[in-house]
Amino acid sequence: AETHYHDFEIQETPVERLCNTRTIITVNGMFPGPTLEVKNGDTLVVNVVNNARYNVTIHWHGIRQMRTAWADGPEFVTQCPIRPGGSYTYRFTVEGQEGTLWWHAHSSWLRATVYGALIIYPKEHSSFPFEKPKREFPILLGEWWDANPVDVVKEASRTGATPKISDAFTINGQPGDLYKCSSQQDTVVFPVAFGETNLLRVINAALNHELFFSIAGHTMTVVGADASYTKPFSTSVLMLAPGQTTDVLVTTNQPPGRYYLAARAYASAQGVPFDNTTTTAVLVYKSGCGGCAPTKGLGIPPAFPSLPEFNDTAAATAFTGAIRSPSAVEVPEPVDVDLLFTVGLGVLDCPKGKTCGGPNGARFAASINNVSFVFPDTTSILEAHRLGAPGLFTADFPASPPVQFDYTASNVSRDLWTPVKGTKVLKLEYGSTVQLVLQGTGIVTAENHPIHIHGYDFYVVAEGFGNFDAAADAARFNLVDPPKRNTVAVPVNGWAMIRFVADNPGVWLVHCHLDVHITWGLAMAFLVEDGQGELQSLEEPPPDLPIC
Ligand code: C2O
Repeated sequence: AETHYHDFEIQETPVERLCNTRTIITVNGMFPGPTLEVKNGDTLVVNVVNNARYNVTIHWHGIRQMRTAWADGPEFVTQCPIRPGGSYTYRFTVEGQEGTLWWHAHSSWLRATVYGALIIYPKEHSSFPFEKPKREFPILLGEWWDANPVDVVKEASRTGATPKISDAFTINGQPGDLYKCSSQQDTVVFPVAFGETNLLRVINAALNHELFFSIAGHTMTVVGADASYTKPFSTSVLMLAPGQTTDVLVTTNQPPGRYYLAARAYASAQGVPFDNTTTTAVLVYKSGCGGCAPTKGLGIPPAFPSLPEFNDTAAATAFTGAIRSPSAVEVPEPVDVDLLFTVGLGVLDCPKGKTCGGPNGARFAASINNVSFVFPDTTSILEAHRLGAPGLFTADFPASPPVQFDYTASNVSRDLWTPVKGTKVLKLEYGSTVQLVLQGTGIVTAENHPIHIHGYDFYVVAEGFGNFDAAADAARFNLVDPPKRNTVAVPVNGWAMIRFVADNPGVWLVHCHLDVHITWGLAMAFLVEDGQGELQSLEEPPPDLPIC
């Protein structure tokens, strides 16, 4: 195994998009940031130097961080932020994961521009469990604001209103030529040759939208998701929730020419503003197509793929439900800890003397089991636990309120849509098998919630609509070949059931990967101690761990 050293300089970089130049926060001046490539079993050492004017941390999304919780990155959960002028070196080893992950800032909304791909190749002396691709392309789907994303979220936090919607979706940082003011220069081109197999590593790095993705004229064969291999199946459309990745093989077997790749929101929310615009890039056959190579001007417009409608829940769930582990897996059994979390939106009263922008003059809040998570600001939960410092968090995360997804403002008691605020964690016994049902609620609005768990992969054993019903839904559990993931898209007005073994000591954030929902509190944390009230096998905090 190898150790890879990288330097990340967080800096302010002028970038032109949609006819405006904005100074954005980048890593090494790049947008998206650098692609990291490792092999399963390798160690990454990334020295982050913060030369920007914001606090920042970097999270390695999906990396298990076995015994290295100090390197996980969520601000005020496993570390204090790296202050302007400060630095921190993240060091961790990739254990047993292969495929595509990514890294992103985990502080305010900086991940709008601070993100990049993290590619994990098969371990030494092994190879892909599929045909070796001729070419590989990371495809990062993102969201662009014609504004400073940190200001956008500050304003929303101040008023408790829905934040300003993004101005464009992007592919590898470019909106594509369908946007006003965009042109060929703003369109990413993927050069391919006829008759080859290409591996596309698609990552949803958007802040607030689940996305459909499709390529004109080409079928995709899904071979991986969230850095786990999957049973291959072919599809014309993908659906990725923020945080998720999907690896697909694409064979260039079409008449040589130009073909659009396109992504657009899957926005199940009713009555909530969403971005219905489409981002594009172009697949260009370099050979066998004479005049169609991109010289000057695109000439004949590329073929356009058909994407599902924004509210096509059937298409979204058909895709996610088709993802399976490659063969039978050992789903952890028997279940030691059986949990049910309600995830959804609610409202909080407007503080006296303030004006709020949420429903009926209130402010939006989001919660898990009716607790709206408050990130500490004086030190991290992990550090407070190590020092035995009381008061920063409490280990009294509650059981779920009565399950009822179809709450409406008219028939639900006020307590069920007014969460309490708190920094509450739930202790999981080390080594226990956890079954967790994530039940979406329809308070205020019904939406999908992509739930991500730090430090863990889990099997998605079942999904369904309506209220989860243990007896009636038992027949749907897939205990044979469920997919292994780090982020599950809980269906709108529905639920998802996951299983994992609590084998990684630390403090692990659980949250909705729609940033607007984290802003409103849709988060909690697991505390997994492998000693008497302590994190025995955790390494000592690195000497340069930022302090608050
Ligand atoms: Cu992709 Cu808490 O992160």
